[in-house]
Amino acid sequence: MKKTFVIAALLAAPALAPWSAQAADIAAGKAKAEAQCAACHAVEGNWNKTMDPAYPKLAGQHKDYLANTLKQYQNGARNNAIMTGMAAGLSKKDIADLSAFFASLEGDLYLKK
Ligand code: HEC
Repeated sequence: MKKTFVIAALLAAPALAPWSAQAADIAAGKAKAEAQCAACHAVEGNWNKTMDPAYPKLAGQHKDYLANTLKQYQNGARNNAIMTGMAAGLSKKDIADLSAFFASLEGDLYLKK
């Protein structure tokens, strides 16, 4: 009886959580970052470095900060000749995935001891 209940609950869970399909996906974010962001914000395994000091380090930055910044490039609250163009084509899901990916990395944004 108890077992049946657990199985039923597991089967029902995805139906009860339709937002899960929208949840940020770190692996998808990584693939998108490698394809679209690595040229400036560095490459796989090396996200703490950038190709040029003018390109901010994204590894370890807060997820909300990254997502908010990308939305600001889209709505014009923040403007930059390069990033406004880069952000323009991103969907809400892209922003969530990319932000989750960069936030998941260990960053060196904090002062080292
Ligand atoms: C052609 C180089 C280039 C590419 C490619 C690029 N960026 Fe940027 N990015 C920049 C530059 C330059 C800035 C600094 C812009 C500014 O001062 O507002 C920046 C800033 C940012 C910031 C703000 C960081 C902060 O600390 O405020 C985020 C977030 C960001 N980029 C994410 C991305 C993502 C995600 C991608 C891939 C979809 C991407 N960038 C692709 C050059 C690039």
